[in-house]
Amino acid sequence: MFTKLIGTTIFLVFGSAAVIFGFQDQQPTQKDVSKFMARKLDDSRAIVAGLATENYELIGKSAQDLMLLSHEADWNVIQGQQYLRMSNDFRGSAERLRDTAHRKNIDGATLAFFEVTMNCVRCHKYVRESKPD
Ligand code: HEC
Repeated sequence: MFTKLIGTTIFLVFGSAAVIFGFQDQQPTQKDVSKFMARKLDDSRAIVAGLATENYELIGKSAQDLMLLSHEADWNVIQGQQYLRMSNDFRGSAERLRDTAHRKNIDGATLAFFEVTMNCVRCHKYVRESKPD
């Protein structure tokens, strides 16, 4: 009886700990999300530098990083069709940027980066508008 009670207590303590930590795992804090989102800015800065100096490797690598970011779970802090569509548009433009960089096409890459930036601004506008304040 006593052993059973201890067993149940241990089960409850560790069980709830697992639930709490598991839950935290799936709910990134605002700080984590900010850090994650700020990487987009780092990549964008690197791309501008790459375009200005015709550093195609830097452009390609940063565009690839933007694509990878858009596939991560932290990216989807907002749910819904519209957000998904904007994420797809963004990914498409980042892919074009990467490909034009691989082809060492500076005009194409500049244009693709313009599209990427348009997609940043468009999505942020949407995020601001859909936030209740
Ligand atoms: C499909 C939507 C979408 C696209 C595209 C997008 N973002 Fe964001 N961005 C978000 C969301 C959502 C947040 C989080 C807003 C919040 O926390 O309220 C965010 C936050 C940020 C932040 C703020 C981080 C902080 O400190 O809170 C920066 C900087 C940022 N994005 C840069 C960019 C850049 C640069 C691009 C383009 C290269 C980009 N984003 C493209 C959705 C997007």
